Amino acid sequence: MPILDQFKLTGRRALITGGSRGLGLEMARALGEAGAEVVIAGSDPAHLAAAVTELRAGGVQVESVQADLGMPEAAEEFCRRVLAAYPAIDILINNVGGRRINIPTEELALADWQRIVDLNLTQAFVCTKMIGGAMLPRRWGRVINIASINAFWPGKTMRGRSYETAKAALVMFTKAVAADWAAQGVTVNGIAPGPFLTDANRRWIRERPEFEGEVRAAIPMGRWGEPREIGALALYLASEASSFMTGSVVVLDGGKTLW
Ligand SMILES: NC(=O)c1ccc[n+]([C@@H]2O[C@H](COP(=O)([O-])OP(=O)(O)OC[C@H]3O[C@@H](n4cnc5c(N)ncnc54)[C@H](OP(=O)(O)O)[C@@H]3O)[C@@H](O)[C@H]2O)c1
Repeated sequence: MPILDQFKLTGRRALITGGSRGLGLEMARALGEAGAEVVIAGSDPAHLAAAVTELRAGGVQVESVQADLGMPEAAEEFCRRVLAAYPAIDILINNVGGRRINIPTEELALADWQRIVDLNLTQAFVCTKMIGGAMLPRRWGRVINIASINAFWPGKTMRGRSYETAKAALVMFTKAVAADWAAQGVTVNGIAPGPFLTDANRRWIRERPEFEGEVRAAIPMGRWGEPREIGALALYLASEASSFMTGSVVVLDGGKTLW
């Protein structure tokens, strides 16, 4: 197959959790522009509606499913709904995650720890099990887990450590399931982004404006990542082009982790 044809996703269906904003929206756009039918999930109906309008205006075939994936039981119910509506999903991007608190470990409540672990890890297990598991009988599939460079390096200004711990576990989950499913045509890979300018980081910058310059100074390329810069890597991992890659977690960080 000619090299550029290996990146075409015509006839494939992709589910992107957290596809209504930030990195998820840009990965949805990339896969949709490559020809996939895209299903995006998010918790806020207004964000979903705006993303659908924007993607359709760009010629992307897209549907949306509203769900709060922060609770494992709700994630299971979400997967049942998705599988009923779209029985054949070929590509799953487990992108939902993040953290909205910054509390030191010695003060972090058990419930807050659990909430962050569920949002960054447990829902990815649930979606991989149910949506990824349904790919196995068809003997072709792609699961892409969005981890973080903080799976490998603690964040200097982060507190609580539940985020890094959950992302590190997501990396090992990626590798272990990749080994289990390698002979069955379903690859499982990950992306470990460094700092990207998304709403999540804009919020931290609003709360502490120096954060923007501190991060920029710590990146050899001297700038934050633009969300659209994750699209090509997601497309590679989602397509035939990455046919011999499984269990890899690719760092995408402008060189942040070199220093
Ligand atoms: N941005 C970075 O610099 C960076 C760096 C490393 C790793 N990451 C990882 O990359 C992923 C995306 O980050 P981002 O910065 O793009 O985040 P973002 O801008 O905050 O977008 C998050 C997306 O996830 C959805 N979402 C959040 N909580 C949800 C929930 N409980 N249920 C369903 N959907 C939910 C949001 O939908 P709503 O609008 O409905 O809330 C939105 O579509 C995360 O896993 C994050 O940890 C990001």
